[in-house]
Amino acid sequence: MSEIVLEVNDLHVEFPTRAGPALAVNGVSFTLTKGMRLGLVGESGSGKSTTVLALMRMIKSPGRISGGSVTLVGDDLLAMSPSAVRRARFSRIALVPQGAMNSLNPVLTVRAQINDLLDSHNETLDKIARARHIASLLKRVGLDETVADQFPHQLSGGMKQRVCIAIAITLSPQVIIADEPTSALDVIVQKQVMQSLINAQSDVGAAIILVGHDMGLMAQFAHVVGVMYAGEIVEIAPVKEIFSNPRHPYTQMLIASLPSFASRGVFRGIPGVAPSIVNRPSGCAFHVRCPRAEARCAQEVPIEDSLDVSHRVRCHFAREESNVALA
Ligand SMILES: Nc1ncnc2c1ncn2[C@@H]1O[C@H](COP(=O)(O)OP(=O)(O)OP(=O)(O)O)[C@@H](O)[C@H]1O
Ligand SMILES: [Mg+2]
Repeated sequence: MSEIVLEVNDLHVEFPTRAGPALAVNGVSFTLTKGMRLGLVGESGSGKSTTVLALMRMIKSPGRISGGSVTLVGDDLLAMSPSAVRRARFSRIALVPQGAMNSLNPVLTVRAQINDLLDSHNETLDKIARARHIASLLKRVGLDETVADQFPHQLSGGMKQRVCIAIAITLSPQVIIADEPTSALDVIVQKQVMQSLINAQSDVGAAIILVGHDMGLMAQFAHVVGVMYAGEIVEIAPVKEIFSNPRHPYTQMLIASLPSFASRGVFRGIPGVAPSIVNRPSGCAFHVRCPRAEARCAQEVPIEDSLDVSHRVRCHFAREESNVALA
């Protein structure tokens, strides 16, 4: 059994709205072991970013974590004091936020931004040791050390994204979270950024959560894939299993929508619109879009079914052989 680094159990996050609470994260559970790469996929609004922001304790008021537990190597992350959380960020759990490359400080060089981070964590490295550390961080993400003395506007999108990864690994965290690190980059640069992330991860021995909506990218990168819909993980399984034996109709449709030779590279997408998370559909939140839905799907919330220890599905028909996307 590999060492457990992060355990998320029944996590709930809600945002108050005039019409009632928006349940952005509605009972998310997963476990990360050392060196594991977990992919979280789902369409826009499914709660991916909110989930990872909760893991960083970065949900802004009036939003709040309304339930569940998060254990980071034995410590209860949700019970930590604000100062303990600040210390844990970057040093134990780091986030490359969605749109990170646009959040770099435009008036500071890369070196100054990494130095600020080291200062904020009271790193006592002297100037020479810091310079060496910064050069090695940049090298790990495939950048030349001269990048240290450049400003964000002097760097391409892919380079900025790699700088963000370098910043995330500065203090050798046990968990690295990257929220859509490659969207808005072209395919070649995407590959380079993903490779940087993998290198950075193996060097510091961390576990990774990769957030994205591209199943194709997950196939290449993740060991385990969790599929999110309306704030829930509707299916989670090792990558091979999810592609060879997808059990949730939504997962089946996501996989079928991948461009393939057979479909001549045409992206088909999933018909229908994302559900409201304020007035959730009754029963299974996916039933309104689900080709497999029967009467009970509109009435009964499916409880999570463990097909085996590593494959969990929230669908009434998880044990029935059928693939809506092949029908
Ligand atoms: N600060 C907020 N206040 C109110 N609602 C919010 C807030 N942040 C997120 N939400 C809502 O929570 C839901 C989940 O949003 P989230 O950003 O986590 O989705 P996502 O899966 O990351 O989507 P994307 O793929 O577009 O990044 C959405 O319905 C969103 O409108
Ligand atoms: Mg997001």
